[in-house]
Amino acid sequence: MDVRAHAPGRVNLIGDHTDYAGGLALPFAIDLGTTIDGTIGGDRLSLVSSAVDERVDLPIGATQATGWGRYAAAVATELGVDEGFTGSVMSDLPIGSGLSSSASLEIALALALGFEGTPLELARLGQRAEHRAVGVPCGLLDQLAIVEGRSGHAMCIDFANLSIEHVPIPDDLDIVVVHSGQERALADSQYAERQASCGRAASIVGPLATADIVDIDRIPDETVRMRARHVSTECARVREAVDALRRDDRPLLGALMTGSHRSLRDDFEVSTPKLDRLVERLLRVPGVHGARLTGAGFGGCVVAIAERGAIPDPTAFSRRGWIVRPADGATCDRGDRPSWPGTRPR
Ligand code: GLA
Repeated sequence: MDVRAHAPGRVNLIGDHTDYAGGLALPFAIDLGTTIDGTIGGDRLSLVSSAVDERVDLPIGATQATGWGRYAAAVATELGVDEGFTGSVMSDLPIGSGLSSSASLEIALALALGFEGTPLELARLGQRAEHRAVGVPCGLLDQLAIVEGRSGHAMCIDFANLSIEHVPIPDDLDIVVVHSGQERALADSQYAERQASCGRAASIVGPLATADIVDIDRIPDETVRMRARHVSTECARVREAVDALRRDDRPLLGALMTGSHRSLRDDFEVSTPKLDRLVERLLRVPGVHGARLTGAGFGGCVVAIAERGAIPDPTAFSRRGWIVRPADGATCDRGDRPSWPGTRPR
């Protein structure tokens, strides 16, 4: 049976390090992503990739693997597959750069290997595979943005109840993504430590998205206090950003994004000097309304919003840069079997 699965990457306009704290974010699926072509059958998982030289070749049921084979083994284990797959993976996403290359791979693989179920179940399966593959206790931001993408729209996700509201992005607003040139390794980073600090803060003041800032300011441990202040102020910025986007108030949306960067830099301490310099350079360009790091930080990409044509060539800032558009979420064609997500409206 011939299969073609596609999963986009995502960029987060605002709302980072809020998902695992039950907060808010405003991401969208992008027109860069992972496409897998192949055939179900046999008893091995056999994959080649356009992005990595290393080939994956594992028996069904393998739990040990190396390199990107860890993602394949983890997805297959989470799905409980009993048939093999031979295929090729094509990706135009930069790896480990804050555009969710690994979540995109997990979701595309799960679909190619025969996932059936709802978008939320698929997102959760991808999240479990990420935990299993590399031990990073990520939230659901990346996987949900990837399965729930809608062309022309961002989505406000409330991680307290997983409700999603799609908000149109004006056609003439350019979303510019520039790679800092710094690769990021989430597993090696302090992601889990940040998450633990948020957990400690929440055990003192309650859910951070709605906690009173006066209570947060009384948290005794300075580091825990700073992390909590970021999450709380970031959720407030996301709420304002959703309103600003609805009203097409670009200067306000931009100012909120830039404020988010400063909070991630000063309170959450996940920026780097390279990311900070890139943000400042972008902000100096006439027509750029705001800029910030996107994703987990510690390197990777920055995102800026700009009037159409203000940045005609993002690679003028760094070797790798893109003007991205909000795209539809993940899909899968499976020959004569029903495609995914079927006739479900976007
Ligand atoms: C990574 C994680 C997400 C989220 C972001 C930061 O992308 O996978 O769950 O926590 O970092 O917002």
